[in-house]
Amino acid sequence: GTLPGEKTHTIYCLLGLVSFHKFSLWSLFPQFGRTEVIDNTLNPDFVRKYILDYFFEEKQNLRFDFGQSLQVFPWEALNVFLSLLHRGIPGKKCGTIVLSAEELSNCRDSATLQFCANKLDKKDFFGKSDPFMVFYRSNEDGTFTICHKTEVVKNTLNPVWQPFTIPVRALCNGDYDRTIKVEVYDWDRDGSHDFIGDFTTSYRELARGQSQFNVYEVINTKKKMKKKKYVNSGTVTLLSFSVESEFTFLDYIKGGTQINFTVAIDFTASNGNPSQSTSLHYMNPYQLNAYAMALKAVGEIIQDYDSDKMFPALGFGAKLPPDGRVSHEFPLNGNMENPYCNGIEGILEAYHQSLRTVQLYGPTNFAPVVNHVARYAAAVQDGSQYFVLLIITDGVISDMAQTKEAIVNGAKLPMSIIIVGVGQAEFDAMVELDGDDIRISSRGKLAERDIVQFVPFRDYMDRTGNHVLSMARLAKDVLAEIPDQFISYMKSRGIKPNPAPPPYTPPGHMHHHTQI
Ligand SMILES: *[C@@H]1O[C@H](CO)[C@@H](O)[C@H](O)[C@H]1NC(C)=O
Repeated sequence: GTLPGEKTHTIYCLLGLVSFHKFSLWSLFPQFGRTEVIDNTLNPDFVRKYILDYFFEEKQNLRFDFGQSLQVFPWEALNVFLSLLHRGIPGKKCGTIVLSAEELSNCRDSATLQFCANKLDKKDFFGKSDPFMVFYRSNEDGTFTICHKTEVVKNTLNPVWQPFTIPVRALCNGDYDRTIKVEVYDWDRDGSHDFIGDFTTSYRELARGQSQFNVYEVINTKKKMKKKKYVNSGTVTLLSFSVESEFTFLDYIKGGTQINFTVAIDFTASNGNPSQSTSLHYMNPYQLNAYAMALKAVGEIIQDYDSDKMFPALGFGAKLPPDGRVSHEFPLNGNMENPYCNGIEGILEAYHQSLRTVQLYGPTNFAPVVNHVARYAAAVQDGSQYFVLLIITDGVISDMAQTKEAIVNGAKLPMSIIIVGVGQAEFDAMVELDGDDIRISSRGKLAERDIVQFVPFRDYMDRTGNHVLSMARLAKDVLAEIPDQFISYMKSRGIKPNPAPPPYTPPGHMHHHTQI
């Protein structure tokens, strides 16, 4: 299978049967790797491991092909012909693959380090130096990326910097032997900091902690070349080192935490009459409208984290039959006792059914659906569930004060809110709710965490406004913040993931891990 977006790995694993040889071959393009060959068995147990990047917000399809080699000698032609006949027929079951995956452990470690320096060069005309350090990790291509800057210690040649904590991933990309470069500067008010010198180390060296190995000479190469008697520009000493493992989003998912995905759709009159092609709710038999596209793009990624794939779906801002009362939280399938829809297709079906039965009305109130999900989230605060509410709207919000209040309250609960704005409206209010720049507050209370992500759907359409450029990119942008929001909740409440159940091992097989 191929994936939209740039991070596409298609894996071909061809396992074959030529007389009594069995092996696998990963070939064709864009391939990711090939397993080793295992002779003479119908139950091969591959041990080679592959490292893949994992992105919560993307659908990362992998394809495994088992096939056979055609590298044969002429006198084996008959065997090849016979084995071709025995090839798998598409759609016909010819065995099962058991895949095991685990997260690389060094992706979750954070190191805490403290340094001091001695006898650094004096750079300031008046007074001493104002030293600070800049840490760089090296990249595979030999370039360097800045990963940490210490604070400035004023007017000293023997500074002691505060301890700092940094993900091991940021320091060395999980590669313990990769070069880490450290530059020492004298801070200047006007930004033209003076270079004192530099040194290199690695995570493996730093991890030895305070010892004679972790005292580094700070060298200024230019100065060294000019002055014969140059020794160094001072030394930097590691005072302490410790490393701590942090839980990741996948630890919780493996421990059984479920994502409860709820959808809320805007049924206000400003969307336009669904029977007209100008309407955002236009029921086009040949093409999904913006609401359906946004729902599908986001829902198809999130549903993989929900084991029963039964999703509650709500509508707001419509007049309901039979009495014509206005509702701001009605079930799309018309069943308040059981608002669940079966999969994304089920939601789309219920959405179309609602469009045919309710009357688009107003105003556009968000607070009732936010409070609806918050009520459920308040009942499960043990980390077994995390709630994601997707609101799709044309954006002219009428209850801003109540919505802010609902969001500030929701920030204390295991929930996140995704807002997709469709149509051409001004989305200033949505940007404000998003809180990326200014954390939202209500009646003087600041939200405990950022739980809202907003994206305007039109950013993903082509110039004619008819075609979505990339559903995958839309999903990526709205979902990217969810794992961090999720972790921020679990951390703030001191919730640890449950231990993962033991991996499935088919009868008669030894277990191997494949790392992802
Ligand atoms: C998920 O949340 C909705 C509210 O948005 C609620 O109706 C439903 O019961 C929840 N599902 C589970 C399994 O708790």
